[in-house]
Amino acid sequence: MSTQTRHFLDISSFDSAQIRRLIEDAKALKAARVKGQPAVEKPLAGKKIAVIFQQPSLRTRMSFDVGINELGGHVLMVSGDEIELGQRESIADTARVMSRYVDGIMIRMLSHHELEELAHYATVPVINGLTKRSHPCQVMADVMTFEERLGPIAGRTVAWTGDSNNVLASWVHAAARLDVKLQIATPEQLAPPDALMDWGRREGASIKLTRDPYEAVSGADCVITDCWVSMGDADREYRHNLLRPYQVDDRLMAAANRDAIFMHCLPAKRGEEVAESVIDGPRSAVWDEAENRLHAQKAVLVWALGNPT
Ligand code: CP
Ligand code: NVA
Repeated sequence: MSTQTRHFLDISSFDSAQIRRLIEDAKALKAARVKGQPAVEKPLAGKKIAVIFQQPSLRTRMSFDVGINELGGHVLMVSGDEIELGQRESIADTARVMSRYVDGIMIRMLSHHELEELAHYATVPVINGLTKRSHPCQVMADVMTFEERLGPIAGRTVAWTGDSNNVLASWVHAAARLDVKLQIATPEQLAPPDALMDWGRREGASIKLTRDPYEAVSGADCVITDCWVSMGDADREYRHNLLRPYQVDDRLMAAANRDAIFMHCLPAKRGEEVAESVIDGPRSAVWDEAENRLHAQKAVLVWALGNPT
């Protein structure tokens, strides 16, 4: 692997200044799009990007397709089944071959280990479009959404209630890099992995872990949750039983700061992890959050594939 290859696998691989710059670039790209002016002259012109999904997607799929097109690039949309990723040939060989055809790879696959293997053998940038371990593009959009609504995120408090999953892991990474106070409530059986919490502590993140969602949202500027059953999870009934007390409803939102917003990466299940009155209510930022995937990913694409600055 060339050390110059600009992979975007995890927020934890970047320093604070790099993440801040990507967020600011995303805001500039959004402002230019709103005005109908491209901020940059087609930085992906002539570039071909493979966009590969082993799991279903609406937001990631469409926002990457639209974003790459707006930046002047060409999308090769592929499903993991079509190429029998990891079955027909090794991940390493797939990476080597794809690198001869395309200029970049955006991929959603459950195995983070295989994503890292793909990136190791690819000689073109690889972007993580969600693994079982993390969802960095989502959290870049979340940070951008927080800042649009509430101003700079440094020193502010974000609460997570519910399952400990890929989105939360990327929030732990962002908390360390952007000086966010993260207050997490999960059932004991679904707590974040020790390795993730140890990483956060080592990197100086301010993270509080509790079983009590009310404790987590106390003093929070933003309350976040996600589905109770993520892609690749089996034990649906077990999870539902454990997670029911972690639903974000009006009572829980009332225990956060008065101007606190609600975020959810979507897709959402109303009546499960979030009450309809919250996700469709005035404090919900979920539609901006979904839109901001487009802008945040465009910033990542320009960084990874545009001409280096
Ligand atoms: N939030 C998110 O990644 O949505 P999709 O699974 O629809 O891409
Ligand atoms: N945690 C969810 C996120 C979906 C975008 C999942 O992994 O299914």
